[in-house]
Amino acid sequence: MNVTSISRAPVTGSSGSGHTSLNEVGKVFSRGNLPEIVLRKCSFDVDPGKLTVLIGPSGCGKSTIVKLIAGYDKPSLGTITIDGTPITGPGPDRIVVFQETALFPWMSLLDNITFGPLQMGVPAAQANEEARRLLAKVGLQGFEMRFPDELSGGMQRRTEVVRALINKPKLMLLDEPFRGLDHMTRGLMQEYFLNIFEETKMTTLFVTSEVEEALFLADRIVILGYKPTSVKAVIDVPLSRPRDFRMLTSDLYGELKERALSLLYEEALKAFETGTAKAKDIARIISTTKTSKA
Ligand SMILES: Nc1ncnc2c1ncn2[C@@H]1O[C@H](COP(=O)(O)OP(=O)(O)OP(=O)(O)O)[C@@H](O)[C@H]1O
Ligand SMILES: [Mg+2]
Repeated sequence: MNVTSISRAPVTGSSGSGHTSLNEVGKVFSRGNLPEIVLRKCSFDVDPGKLTVLIGPSGCGKSTIVKLIAGYDKPSLGTITIDGTPITGPGPDRIVVFQETALFPWMSLLDNITFGPLQMGVPAAQANEEARRLLAKVGLQGFEMRFPDELSGGMQRRTEVVRALINKPKLMLLDEPFRGLDHMTRGLMQEYFLNIFEETKMTTLFVTSEVEEALFLADRIVILGYKPTSVKAVIDVPLSRPRDFRMLTSDLYGELKERALSLLYEEALKAFETGTAKAKDIARIISTTKTSKA
């Protein structure tokens, strides 16, 4: 799956609680004759109106979890529910933003964003107004009639987020949407994203492999272990909102970061031993940031 899914939910009216529960979820893939157990007894909750961040070593199964919640694949064991109803397939109550850009290159930003609502029969004037408002909120006022290839990577990602958000799903799933952006752009993206989350308080599950990104965004961080993957720890992040760069120097931020890094360190080493390049990157990031407080 390498596209941003656009739900068929209307601009107004479909937002809801989005409370999502994974209950002892297991997932086994077959590699030839060899089964690979990726998830084992994986349980956690995404609380309504909260931003939950899922973090774990490369290859541990983060994207697999996103696809299971999205309904693109089914658990081998256990259940996943949204507002108490088992997930049996894709639905308009969930939208996924992946890291790959999936804007329609032949459409302006405005047309990309209003595509979903218009398909649902939302009046064009209403869809356009909301699209323009959201674009302004992410710093893209004046870019409405541009085409995706006229934008920087960061601008494209912001447009992707708006394109998903305008459909007001019950649950937003974002799978490393800012991966690959340079450090400064990524920081700005996080601020824009938080700005919009703090306005909408949409129930969100955000996947990352960066501890700083997790702490900056999250109400709660779910730390995954290495395969077969289950939840290693859950860290609540009681840093006040709205957040900005000043929190980076607070004692609480430093303590939470130290705790998250310690928990991840052991798992990253396990991933590292499997020899994947991305795991090496994470182990390197952790070992270089472990000593710094903020
Ligand atoms: N459709 C599939 N068929 C077989 N194996 C799969 C399939 N999808 C994922 N896997 C395996 O499941 C494991 C977890 O993959 P997944 O992409 O969920 O990890 P991830 O945590 O998202 O990794 P990354 O940090 O690189 O994004 C990997 O070993 C992968 O090879
Ligand atoms: Mg992934």
